[in-house]
Amino acid sequence: MTTILITGCTVGGLGFEAATQILQADSDATLLLTVRSEAAQRNVIDTLHAQNVSYPSRVTVKLLDLSSLASVRSFCDELDKSNIQTILCNAGTIKNTYRLTEDGHEWQFQVNYLAHFLLIYTLLPTLLHRLNPKIVLVSSDMHLNFMNTDPSYLHHITPVSSYNGMTVYGHTKYLENALAQYLVAHLPIYITINTVTPGLVPSTAMADKSSCFDRVLARHVLPFFGIAVSKEIGAKRLVEVAVAESAAGVTGKYWSRGKFGLPRQEALDQGVQEKLWKLSCDLVGVDASPSFLE
Ligand SMILES: NC(=O)c1ccc[n+]([C@@H]2O[C@H](COP(=O)([O-])OP(=O)(O)OC[C@H]3O[C@@H](n4cnc5c(N)ncnc54)[C@H](OP(=O)(O)O)[C@@H]3O)[C@@H](O)[C@H]2O)c1
Repeated sequence: MTTILITGCTVGGLGFEAATQILQADSDATLLLTVRSEAAQRNVIDTLHAQNVSYPSRVTVKLLDLSSLASVRSFCDELDKSNIQTILCNAGTIKNTYRLTEDGHEWQFQVNYLAHFLLIYTLLPTLLHRLNPKIVLVSSDMHLNFMNTDPSYLHHITPVSSYNGMTVYGHTKYLENALAQYLVAHLPIYITINTVTPGLVPSTAMADKSSCFDRVLARHVLPFFGIAVSKEIGAKRLVEVAVAESAAGVTGKYWSRGKFGLPRQEALDQGVQEKLWKLSCDLVGVDASPSFLE
């Protein structure tokens, strides 16, 4: 039995939609979904029941709050890691104001990037024992925008810096790409690591979290130009990278609009990757030279 772990599976979002598509397409698939509140957990279970998914034999739903590194650690401690073959790091958020997590990190930096880093780092030793293990990080074309590309930029950002939620969001999605590239360079070739963007999907709650201007742009302007896609198409793109045969063996790519390419140039820079790896290990208090790295 192999299990796909998907973070951020609130009903209505891309993670839950991707889970539904995987369950429909593969009758052998077993999933471990995470949400961050008991109400969201109940809603996922009830919705799966309504879809006649056999719960909990095929799907389990656990609590994981990425704004708390303690939550990531206890989630990993309590987990039966032995069957996890794929990690789909889907959870993500946009904040329009500067805020720190309980661990003292900029909110988006931790939720979108650092907590997933810790999750991956902790699960890697067992993941590497699986057949065809995979890591997929859900990124965004926002990572291509102009920004400060120093990997430690968000760690040092302060309330007095001019805070632009979308720029910070894009930066976290850039860090995911640099991390993916570092892992590809330092892990055995049989594990595949890719990033993917679902495209612009205005129908999820992500648009509600954006600024008023960005919300109007996403929901009412860009769809008019044919730029937006449905939740079903956005989730299908995640599923294609995470489970489809066509993605088997492909690694180190950034999947956009159903095709694989590369992330922005700076994410391919070894100096950037090394700096990010050391910073991340330091911030979550783990060994920067673990035995699973080559
Ligand atoms: N929608 C788009 O246009 C778009 C475009 C490019 C990339 N993406 C990426 O696609 C992924 C899914 O986004 P979506 O559109 O489906 O948005 P969404 O509906 O808001 O889903 C995001 C998920 O992340 C969870 N999450 C947020 N903060 C969390 C935390 N502190 N701890 C644990 N989970 C947390 C949310 O939980 P709650 O429901 O409890 O907040 C939700 O389950 C994200 O990584 C996003 O950046 C989306």
